Amino acid sequence: MFDDYWHIYGESGSGKSTLMNIIGALDRPTEGEYYFNGVDISKLSDKKLSKIRNSTIGFVFQNFNLIPRTSALKNVELPMVYGKVPKKERISRAKELLDMVEMSSRYDHNPNELSGGQKQRVAIARAMANNPSIILADEPTGALDSKTGRTIMDLFHNLHSQGKTIVLITHNPELAKETERIVTISDGNIISDSRGSSGEDYSEIYNSEEWGEDNEN
Ligand SMILES: Nc1ncnc2c1ncn2[C@@H]1O[C@H](COP(=O)(O)OP(=O)(O)OP(=O)(O)O)[C@@H](O)[C@H]1O
Ligand SMILES: [Mg+2]
Repeated sequence: MFDDYWHIYGESGSGKSTLMNIIGALDRPTEGEYYFNGVDISKLSDKKLSKIRNSTIGFVFQNFNLIPRTSALKNVELPMVYGKVPKKERISRAKELLDMVEMSSRYDHNPNELSGGQKQRVAIARAMANNPSIILADEPTGALDSKTGRTIMDLFHNLHSQGKTIVLITHNPELAKETERIVTISDGNIISDSRGSSGEDYSEIYNSEEWGEDNEN
């Protein structure tokens, strides 16, 4: 990756979620190879894969994917249960994360007692649980009104300034402008790849011969 704040943009059905699932090692590509941190993930067992995922990647899913009838606190604790973090530490970290997303007053609320924006904040807190280096967020503001969406975007900007790699997926071109690099996909193919603010075009890199050589190293 050239930058650590990406935006994947494309129309509905263009393959954004599919790409996110491959980047996040939730899915394996049917064709081609995908190296995660230099490792060909198609060669790893499911167990190893889920361990890598749990420790390095935080997912924020389009539909929140919170566990129903389970408190916000327990939802945030869950990835740390898988990560075998001791209970006391787990609870205090989950509280810290919920405080970070301004959900201090909602520890005990179940998802059905929360608004869309609040659920999204719990989902972001949960994605941060194991202090991942990468956060993949699929339409994190898609279901939110613009004011709440703004708050969520500011949260991502803030996480990026703390050194996290962020990959945001949307079909909102306005949000795409706020990131450092925009990858546009259509019908499952990358059709453009450029810098968000400067407009620098990366597609030349893909088309150059060096790209293929670099890729094999
Ligand atoms: N590179 C690809 N080659 C072949 N099929 C693909 C490819 N990428 C995605 N698809 C297929 O396209 C369909 C839609 O993909 P996906 O759900 O990822 O779209 P999306 O961009 O996330 O849409 P939405 O904005 O509605 O969430 C899926 O059936 C998926 O299997
Ligand atoms: Mg999708």
